[in-house]
Amino acid sequence: MKKIILIILSICFIVVGCFISSGSASINDAYKIHEALFVNNSYNRNIRPVWNQFQAVQVQLYMYIKSIQEFDEVNEKFSFIAALSVVWYDYLLQWDPSLYSGINEITVSYDDLWVPELTLSSPSSRSASIGRSTDRIRVKAHGECEWIPAGLIESTCSVDVKGYPFDTQTCSASYVSLGYKIHEVNLTAGFPNVSLIGYAPNALWDLTGSKVTTEAIGGGGESEVSFTFFMKRKSAFVVVNIILPIFFLSILNVLVFVLVPESGERMGYCITTLLAIAVYMTIVSDMLPKNSEPMPVISYKLMIDLLISSLIVLVTILNMRMWKREDSETVPKMLKVLYKILSCRKCRNSGKNRKIHTDNNNKVEVISINKSTKKNINNDDDDANDNGDDDDDITWKRISHMFDMIALVSFTAMSVISCVVYIIVAKLSAN
Ligand SMILES: *[C@@H]1O[C@H](CO)[C@@H](O)[C@H](O)[C@H]1NC(C)=O
Ligand SMILES: *[C@@H]1O[C@H](CO)[C@@H](O)[C@H](O)[C@H]1NC(C)=O
Ligand SMILES: *[C@@H]1O[C@H](CO)[C@@H](O)[C@H](O)[C@H]1NC(C)=O
Repeated sequence: MKKIILIILSICFIVVGCFISSGSASINDAYKIHEALFVNNSYNRNIRPVWNQFQAVQVQLYMYIKSIQEFDEVNEKFSFIAALSVVWYDYLLQWDPSLYSGINEITVSYDDLWVPELTLSSPSSRSASIGRSTDRIRVKAHGECEWIPAGLIESTCSVDVKGYPFDTQTCSASYVSLGYKIHEVNLTAGFPNVSLIGYAPNALWDLTGSKVTTEAIGGGGESEVSFTFFMKRKSAFVVVNIILPIFFLSILNVLVFVLVPESGERMGYCITTLLAIAVYMTIVSDMLPKNSEPMPVISYKLMIDLLISSLIVLVTILNMRMWKREDSETVPKMLKVLYKILSCRKCRNSGKNRKIHTDNNNKVEVISINKSTKKNINNDDDDANDNGDDDDDITWKRISHMFDMIALVSFTAMSVISCVVYIIVAKLSAN
């Protein structure tokens, strides 16, 4: 018995609920609204919907960004997916919902009523006007119209890659209601910034902020609303794939002076690193816009690396010539003096093992000294009171080793300085 009462009660609730929620608005009511608004009023979509025609139609724009689609540095193009919500009041589209069984919203096709046609003022593709006849506009009983054009927005953006890959970019998409002056249609910003509701982060760019500004083009012309986006590049990819390899190449490049000359590999080695740097130069220049204003700092950095690498090739060639000379050929006095100045302070301190300890920077050279100048080292063992005699010890091979050391130290310093300066300048110009 109780069960039956319960079932009857719940059926009653469902029936009452249906009546309340769906009301009893028939298709005739909707038809009458459209007739009253568009036929009996003789609605004309060319007439601005304000009573006082000296007043502007106030149009509010809200933007909801969904995702950044692409930021193309080479073609200076910024595209993103967003929905725009355009809201205005239409004086002619008002009705009393109680006369039409409580219907308080209708939707109307884009082509049937007045709309503030919007145009993207900096488009990067052909379709700049955003209205489509398939759009629908929601009209409320008190005259509020809302139009939500959504889709891919492609805007041009002037790119500043000076601090690449630590750069930040500022791109904006501006809308203007072409054909109407600001005293006819006044576009205003709904939010102070772009709404991030439903935003999906981009893999390459961080959206760090946004702002919305309005202005009258040329003071009293058309009104324009600009949505500006501030983006920061996620630099990990470029750092791992380009910056770090370039640093490693610089380190490898100077190690040519550690390579033993006997191996005969020196020329091949330094030419290979020169080519590798040239290849990275090509890769980087493909990723950047082909303009020189402003030049990316990384291009200068690569150019300097290429220069250092070329100098290394040059020094290696000259040094090989020196190394190949016969021991019988006399060494110019100037070089001897230089050799003594550079090596003597240490050799005095370390006594008779001086030739080995002179070059404590690298073992390879010690080995080659041992090999090539064994006779000299043996001579050195008993010259505790040497003065002018050890001039004969100084052979071309030793001079060549000396130049190797000088080149190793100076080119390492150059490479380190170029890396440090690059990072500092790139970071500074990014902000
Ligand atoms: C529209 O005008 C016609 C003729 O004047 C009238 O019969 C009809 O009731 C009007 N419709 C509405 C919805 O007011
Ligand atoms: C446009 O609207 C803004 C905000 O409502 C207002 O400050 C401005 O005076 C309006 N401009 C014109 C020309 O009506
Ligand atoms: C947008 O502006 C509001 C109010 O000024 C602020 O609270 C909010 O954090 C801003 N949102 C973004 C994404 O900047």
